[in-house]
Amino acid sequence: MRPPEKLIVRPNAETVARAAAFIREGRLVGIPTETVYGLAADATNDTAVASLFAAKGRPRFNPLIIHVPDFGAAEAVGSFDDRGRALARRFWPGPLTLVVPRRADCAVSLLACAGLSTIAVRVPNHDVTLALLAAAARPIAAPSANPSGTVSPTTAAHVAASMGDKVAMILDGGPCRIGVESTVLDLSEGEACVLRPGAVSGDEIAAVIGPLGTAPAGGEARPRSPGLALRHYAPSIPLRLNATGKPVREREALLAFGARPPAGYAAMKNLSPSGDVQEAAANLFAMLRTLDRAGFGGIAVMPIPETGLGAAINDRLRRAVSNELEAAENAAHMEHRSHPTG
Ligand code: TXA
Ligand code: MG
Repeated sequence: MRPPEKLIVRPNAETVARAAAFIREGRLVGIPTETVYGLAADATNDTAVASLFAAKGRPRFNPLIIHVPDFGAAEAVGSFDDRGRALARRFWPGPLTLVVPRRADCAVSLLACAGLSTIAVRVPNHDVTLALLAAAARPIAAPSANPSGTVSPTTAAHVAASMGDKVAMILDGGPCRIGVESTVLDLSEGEACVLRPGAVSGDEIAAVIGPLGTAPAGGEARPRSPGLALRHYAPSIPLRLNATGKPVREREALLAFGARPPAGYAAMKNLSPSGDVQEAAANLFAMLRTLDRAGFGGIAVMPIPETGLGAAINDRLRRAVSNELEAAENAAHMEHRSHPTG
């Protein structure tokens, strides 16, 4: 790790340009916002986003907030209705994140959105990061710059202490003015709902768009963890996990992992021929969607080790095995895993 005095830099035109170059190369940069420090990556680069999940040590792929310089850039990635436009006008730049439908032509990595058809966007209110967004000229995915399960950082020194070995640079924008994360508001369908309370209150939002919903679509009490409120992406055709042998369905496609995929499948995509879980994570959602859309009879997925991002990949694959029929079929076809876990 570089000593903190080299890693933490004072923002100026030259260092912001250097940070933007790092982002465009797929490296991670610590960035100040008005809420907390973020761990920034090029949101359009699957590999950079995978390295971001690895750096956070997140046990699963929670979707990330996509940071953009202005409302025009937000409209390039998501679809905003009148409520979204009014809230953006009132609160951006600022600590309100809007979850809206992802545009079909959205350039943001599917991994950054955890495969969902929605996208979380905000314009941060910090001059340094607005300058970085302009210089990088692409949307930036930035979760709070702390390891998963620890307190969010509000100074550059906090970021250096816990993430110093993961970032190319930390832009020092001073202590964060607000110190708690942005409010996450779901506008993707029906009533607007707060998924994560934050710096903007529900009352302030209601003053702009009227009363907010309180219950999720399922009718149960809104889960306290925002991750639980997410509808996870699942393919429309049967998904079979831990496949090591021949196909078991007509025109079954294979989502392979490693150097020796079994033969006989109607088609094959390889998450990582070299067996690298980080590369597999970068390819996961895009390859699943490609096979899902091509009219195959099902998708068989080879075993993925539980190490590193493998745990998050397996978590997501198990959630994608969505209905009981598929679950029963999976139990019947379960084959022994060919590798140790852990
Ligand atoms: O203040 C903040 O928002 C900070 C700074 C760096 O901008 N960022 C931050 O990001 O807190 P993160 O990744 O730690 O939190 C993202 C939150 C999670 O609660 C996630 O579930 C939610 O946003 N989220 C992201 N995309 C979503 C989506 N498509 N649908 C529902 N929730 C989403
Ligand atoms: Mg966080």
